[in-house]
Amino acid sequence: MEILGIDIGGSGIKGAPVNIVRGTLTHDRLRIPTPSHGRPSDVADVVRILADAFEWNGPIGLTMPGRVKQGVMHTAANIDDRWIGVDASALFTRATGCAATVLNDADAAGVAEMAFGAGRQAKGIILMLTFGTGIGSALFVDGTLVPNTELGHLELQSGTAEGYAAASVRKREKLSWRSWARRVQEYLAHVEFLFAPDLIIVGGGVSRPKKVPKFMPHLTTSARLVPAQLQNEAGIIGAACAARPVPVEEESKTA
Ligand code: BGC
Repeated sequence: MEILGIDIGGSGIKGAPVNIVRGTLTHDRLRIPTPSHGRPSDVADVVRILADAFEWNGPIGLTMPGRVKQGVMHTAANIDDRWIGVDASALFTRATGCAATVLNDADAAGVAEMAFGAGRQAKGIILMLTFGTGIGSALFVDGTLVPNTELGHLELQSGTAEGYAAASVRKREKLSWRSWARRVQEYLAHVEFLFAPDLIIVGGGVSRPKKVPKFMPHLTTSARLVPAQLQNEAGIIGAACAARPVPVEEESKTA
């Protein structure tokens, strides 16, 4: 079954139809820069353009960089504040005429890694952390997602963890990979103290095979520590998986 996955980030909005059984894109992905300020109506216009480009009229899964509950945005750390309180699912459904499901971007990446990537068959407490503009987190307990954990906003060094150890901070402060890894190490120690995960999956741009040797060998954790496998595509694939329509018999069980 194919579902359109769209990953909405601070700099780009990327989408492609996904085969949700295989976890693969069925067309090349399209990327449109996020409109400046990332206002809800402007982002919705881009989502419509992407859906039209794929002549889409089925379900759509979308990610947002914030806490999303029943489709409504509760926080907006790296995107316009006007998103707070917006029913993003309703907005994108209206914009595209397609049923839209919205979830947090790191949660989506985690869903994809658990199904098709570094978390396949992993048991226990699994934590996916994405290092990019901010730090995203997705926590799984025996395969079940505990959504919206937002562990990038934990307090660290009298600020937020993402203000100290996100990948963007390495570039902004011109840190060497080794100095940045020291910060990531502090963050991981804190997170391990709180959750004692069995496996930590490191995602975001830094999980690309070229980048991994620059910092991962400097990290020591009690948990097994592995790079994500799906990299750029994790958000799109996870969003599409999250939008899988509930079969009628499952729906009647929960009614
Ligand atoms: C946001 C999270 C998001 C993460 C990665 C954080 O600033 O609060 O919701 O998952 O950035 O984009």
